[in-house]
Amino acid sequence: MPIATDVLDIALRVEGLKKSFGANVAVDDVWFRIAKGETFGLLGPNGAGKTTTISMICGLIAADAGTVDVYGTRIAAGSPRGRRLIGYVPQELAIYPDLSGRDNLRFFGRLYGLRGAEAERRIDEVLDVVALRDRAGDRSEEYSGGMKRRLNIAAGMLHEPRLLILDEPTVGIDPQSRNAILDAVAALGDAGLSVLYTTHYMEEAERLCDRLAIMDGGKIKATGTRRELVSMVGKHDVVNLTVSRAARAAAEGLRALPGVRSATAQDDRTVSVLADGAAALLPDIIGTFAGTPIHVQGVEVLEPSLDAVFLHLTGTALRD
Ligand SMILES: Nc1ncnc2c1ncn2[C@@H]1O[C@H](COP(=O)(O)OP(=O)(O)OP(=O)(O)O)[C@@H](O)[C@H]1O
Ligand SMILES: [Mg+2]
Repeated sequence: MPIATDVLDIALRVEGLKKSFGANVAVDDVWFRIAKGETFGLLGPNGAGKTTTISMICGLIAADAGTVDVYGTRIAAGSPRGRRLIGYVPQELAIYPDLSGRDNLRFFGRLYGLRGAEAERRIDEVLDVVALRDRAGDRSEEYSGGMKRRLNIAAGMLHEPRLLILDEPTVGIDPQSRNAILDAVAALGDAGLSVLYTTHYMEEAERLCDRLAIMDGGKIKATGTRRELVSMVGKHDVVNLTVSRAARAAAEGLRALPGVRSATAQDDRTVSVLADGAAALLPDIIGTFAGTPIHVQGVEVLEPSLDAVFLHLTGTALRD
């Protein structure tokens, strides 16, 4: 009975989602599903359309086309239906600086109808998840950037959502907070919560996510487990070259070389090359610059990885 299985096993179903801002197509026919208990990563560079996709999933903005179902409940913009099912941790901080961490959580708890002893119990639980209990009495303006983000995450979990959505929760924070957040998300995933995690950090996606989608230019380029995605690039290796100058011209020259799939300047002095069997090609790659004013100063051969997948699918490296 495929329909019954569908309803039972799917936490989030996104079908044919589209959104344009004027002539800018921010989200262009996006489809994916998250199974119950799964941690799913949405990986993409700035402007890929991640936040716009999430805003439609949460019913904060109206889609031009497509549907979103969370645990079988259809989400419509502005409608409270499904709101309790979703815990949304926005990219921008939404906390009150002059309130303590605990008072912030009391405030957000009241929005969900949590009061009294039940609210205090839940607040203690979420403070433990984000490792902030010992600082809960301090005004949140005295928190580090990472602690504020952890408080933001705690606020999104207070009402015991069944699908937690985190929009780039680790951008620009200290390593200690970053680890605390990654540990918290991993623990929530292990405890059976369904999680949608957006990031442009490859290593976070690799560490946390059961499956992931690579998004670029409003489109999902590929979806799968890390292993499935890496097998898409097959035997192609990524070679990162550090050159003395003119990386763009260097990339141009390399593209003409047989066996080179793509060559892209990442900045003035770095070229990423996707090649069939890098070991055999290295002499040719370096030989390309003989008699030119460009010197190769460093060579790094990377094993097939999500970076290679990203380069293969989008022609750009995924970076800050
Ligand atoms: N409210 C808006 N009005 C006009 N354009 C918008 C709006 N929100 C997003 N966009 C545009 O839609 C595209 C996708 O933006 P979005 O914020 O969804 O990307 P993102 O993947 O979340 O990027 P980032 O990693 O920088 O957060 C961008 O071109 C952006 O400029
Ligand atoms: Mg965003």
